[in-house]
Amino acid sequence: MVDSPPLRLYEYPVIRPVDSLIDFLQAEQARGRSHIFLDNSARDGLRELYIRMRKPPAAAASSPTQPAAPVSQDVVITGNGKAEQLAGLRKQAERWAPAMALGTLREKMVFATGNPDAAIMLIGEAPGYNEEKDGEPFVGPAGQKLNDILKAMGLRREDTYISNLVKFRPSLPKQTTNNRKSSPEEMAAFLPLVMAEISIIQPKLIIALGGITAEGLLGLEGTVGDMRGKWHEVSGIPARVTYHPSYLLHSDGSNDVKRALWEDMLAAMEKLGMPISDKQRGFFLTKG
Ligand code: URA
Repeated sequence: MVDSPPLRLYEYPVIRPVDSLIDFLQAEQARGRSHIFLDNSARDGLRELYIRMRKPPAAAASSPTQPAAPVSQDVVITGNGKAEQLAGLRKQAERWAPAMALGTLREKMVFATGNPDAAIMLIGEAPGYNEEKDGEPFVGPAGQKLNDILKAMGLRREDTYISNLVKFRPSLPKQTTNNRKSSPEEMAAFLPLVMAEISIIQPKLIIALGGITAEGLLGLEGTVGDMRGKWHEVSGIPARVTYHPSYLLHSDGSNDVKRALWEDMLAAMEKLGMPISDKQRGFFLTKG
């Protein structure tokens, strides 16, 4: 076996198509290499590739242009304390080559907001028109909904850390206020950065907002209805999937959806040992 340093695999599989990964591994094997080091983000990346191999990515069809050949970049965490480390991460995100190479994202970065010492980290999919304008995640109508949800939990935005998987607004031709979903490639490109963000924040729990986020972050597939109502894990941190706040806006205020989302929030509050009043427990319960 060739004596070489451990390979940080997340430089490769998270962002390369699976065929390139196979080529790469075969080449390493031919060089006599029999072991490679897999960290958490590499495992997450491989899981996502596996899922994509089984199911052609539907969202990719909405991509305005054919993505360019993927490019790799390593995440580096430096600095003392969370603020410095996040500042370093923000700088890397601004010029994040794997994302830039796709050529499918707009230019203004929207990184994250909130308290780096928060117990709850909420992760959405990508900024939209309003978020790009203000440079802050969840400030449009979905953000107002999120604020309402947090208020019902007895929390303010500033008590939580709010981020997105994709740090730039997905672009469309002749785009004005219209937004599009993130593609699997866009989410995969940013996954190592978000995993680094999680490792800096070290929240007590993560809430993944919406099915697209859950696919990109947790490698899950199916409906939010299938994913929600149970605990998952991201790098050893409990993670809950729930409906995206914008779904509440578009689901005609369906009480079932509101109650389901609220039950996920009650579970999060319980997990954190937050006090829960009878009134809170009863929100959106249908009487009868
Ligand atoms: N939807 C998201 O997923 N993130 C935002 O920041 C805004 C809307």
